[in-house]
Amino acid sequence: IANGDALKEKTLAMIKPDGVEGDYIDVIKKTILASGFNITQEIQLQLNENTVKSFYAEHASKSFFSDLVQYMTSGPVLIMVLEKANAIADWRDLIGPTDSNKAKATHPKSVRALCGLDLQRNCVHGSDSPQSAVREISFFFEKSSSGFVSTHDEL
Ligand code: PPS
Repeated sequence: IANGDALKEKTLAMIKPDGVEGDYIDVIKKTILASGFNITQEIQLQLNENTVKSFYAEHASKSFFSDLVQYMTSGPVLIMVLEKANAIADWRDLIGPTDSNKAKATHPKSVRALCGLDLQRNCVHGSDSPQSAVREISFFFEKSSSGFVSTHDEL
């Protein structure tokens, strides 16, 4: 295909509070860039309860929801838009299984094996489908005349 850009895809990546707190931003970004992604947007935010509840709305009925909200509001997060061909699946592969303990056992080179602590404090998020990626990117970033801007308050 002549125009390689046509194959590019975007996904939403987030370094969660434990990752920011543990000083993993630089090593995760290096891994992202070394894996061929471009970081096209990024913003560091302190999420509030309503924002987290809305972002994770599909999990509202889960037993872990209140723990998830508490954890995700416990400190700042770094939100990024990653771009490359097959970005959604490739970022999910790179981060490894949801449970960091499983990641350490079965995917020792994954991001969650590197910096995740357990099932809840799993260091990073990645969109799980093309539909999620579109929703999650537009949740945090919107188009304006000056390019993409954040829809939430920057730290
Ligand atoms: S499910 O039930 O399969 O849809 O859940 P899953 O996709 O594995 O996880 C959805 C997000 O919820 C987080 N999670 C948890 N948080 C706290 N405690 C427990 N027990 C727990 N289990 C799952 C999990 O990290 C997922 O977050 P994201 O940011 O989507 O990776």
